[in-house]
Amino acid sequence: MLVVNAADKDFVVESLLEHRGDVIGSVTKRLNNEPQVRINESAFAHNIGRVQRLLAEPVKRVAVLISGNGSNLQALIDSTRNSTMGMRAEIVFVLSNKENVMGLERARKAGIASKCLSHKDFKSREDFDAAMTSLLESHGIDVVCLAGFMRILSGQFVSKWKGRLINIHPSLLPKYPGLHVQRQALEAGEKYSGCTVHFVDEGVDTGAIIFQRRVAIKEGETEESLTRKIHRAEHYAYPHALRMLVNGQTSF
Ligand code: GRF
Repeated sequence: MLVVNAADKDFVVESLLEHRGDVIGSVTKRLNNEPQVRINESAFAHNIGRVQRLLAEPVKRVAVLISGNGSNLQALIDSTRNSTMGMRAEIVFVLSNKENVMGLERARKAGIASKCLSHKDFKSREDFDAAMTSLLESHGIDVVCLAGFMRILSGQFVSKWKGRLINIHPSLLPKYPGLHVQRQALEAGEKYSGCTVHFVDEGVDTGAIIFQRRVAIKEGETEESLTRKIHRAEHYAYPHALRMLVNGQTSF
């Protein structure tokens, strides 16, 4: 709980929007002119009730789908294990469509169940996606995070996981969907780029946006330096967006 100057109230509530900050009282004067905090009981009960309901719900079981390095996977593992983040989620399964990638090693080190399922072993996209769904279901997965998963998903998979399937993309969508987007942003002379976490729908990088983080493009910026900068922003944005989803602050 914060006690702030009345003049700063709106600013503080606005800044706490993502945590659903709310006003639960006011500061009044006692007879001797000393300040006194007065709690509005119904506002207090409403807010405590909301948190208690959230804490009573089981922690969401999250799977992360990767194809490579998995630095976003690492950010998600670290943030879900950091109690100060207040994240009602646990990464319980990592699925890669490529063998021997760094992301699988990260899962192993973190003691998280993982599996490599190569799309090459399946006749069609639908068959591969159906095999992924049965693996995800066998792990009791609630939420699927795509983190550098280099496969286009079938409509079947997308509709099965709709509202529980999110992706991170290295541009400020709707600008620059698809591949090589850092290069495109540089070539277009953009002053800013960034990353977007969004719900996945049937299109490529078109789903509803959950959270974005902007980075400045400086004079002399290269594709490599911009990619690094966006990656750092991603490691903040993805945990942030996942927390919004699992803590019920956003839905599809
Ligand atoms: C990220 O830049 C993400 O935006 C894109 O793929 C990259 C994955 O990086 N979808 P990493 O494997 O998480 O390091």
